[in-house]
Amino acid sequence: MAYQHIQITREQPNIGATISGVDLNRVSNPAVYEEIRQALMEFGVVFFRDQPLTPDAHVALAAALGSPEVHEFFPAVKTNKEISIISVPANTENKPVGENGTDRWHADVTFREDPSFASILRGVDVPFGGDTMWVNMNAVYNNLPDKMKQLLEGLEAEHDALGDDAVRNFVLKNQGPEGLAEFAKRRPPKVHPVVISHPITGKPILYVNSVFTQRLLGLPDDLAKLLLHWLYELPKIPEYQVRFKWEPNSIAIWDNFVTQHYAVNDYKDYREMQRVVVSGMKPTEYAYSQLSNATQAGFIDSQAMQSASASDQDAIRKLFAG
Ligand code: SIN
Repeated sequence: MAYQHIQITREQPNIGATISGVDLNRVSNPAVYEEIRQALMEFGVVFFRDQPLTPDAHVALAAALGSPEVHEFFPAVKTNKEISIISVPANTENKPVGENGTDRWHADVTFREDPSFASILRGVDVPFGGDTMWVNMNAVYNNLPDKMKQLLEGLEAEHDALGDDAVRNFVLKNQGPEGLAEFAKRRPPKVHPVVISHPITGKPILYVNSVFTQRLLGLPDDLAKLLLHWLYELPKIPEYQVRFKWEPNSIAIWDNFVTQHYAVNDYKDYREMQRVVVSGMKPTEYAYSQLSNATQAGFIDSQAMQSASASDQDAIRKLFAG
């Protein structure tokens, strides 16, 4: 993909790019936003440096990608309800990893019928440490063995925010028992396919995360638990990841369908990030058997497929899906 209004530097073979040559506080040409959106689709997560975004520019960037939304449980800055504060107090270095809530692999708000499409995170108070990592769940899926793809086809999973102890405790601490009861009523568990099609690119995505996905449905309980825990491990494979070192006014925008992320919990000073989220849609199932039928019928050379680029693989899949 050629870009005319922004410069792209790829970060890792499977995910991530840094965008330069743009001042996000002064975007007057909509083509700039359109190219940022295209880069997001191509690389899954995009980074910017030295962008002292005003609150209005932060929300405007989100509005250029879709509809900014108000977050379920993070507090907001005083001036804009769409800008959530994600902060961790100082001196929590003895807290076990996993207890910040964001220091586990997850995609945001998958407990909703319509999980968000993108998030825009800005480094505000950046300690030594506290990097964020992202993983490309399309690459994870593509590299599963065919037999596993067959097993996952048609499977569904239950996503439930309050089924997770760290999230439940966070909501309880910030919103009290009544807030927790109200949240439970407003956000009952939701079911999503285990493998979804990306709503824009159509890419297959393994859509199971270790914070919000609580149960696989339709399998014997013991097998469902084993398989779910095996799936939780897959985002940890380094080949599909990128790791970002924050500076004040660094920005990361991620595609919340194709990626999961993990805020590394290795710092002891106060850490504050501000985030605006762009609303999404209900994910739909990816039909693997359309590809495997074509493969079985000899239409697709599966070895050649594996060595093709991700975008070529998608184009070939789409061709044979018809
Ligand atoms: C998040 O999980 O959305 C926040 C990531 C971070 O704080 O680095």
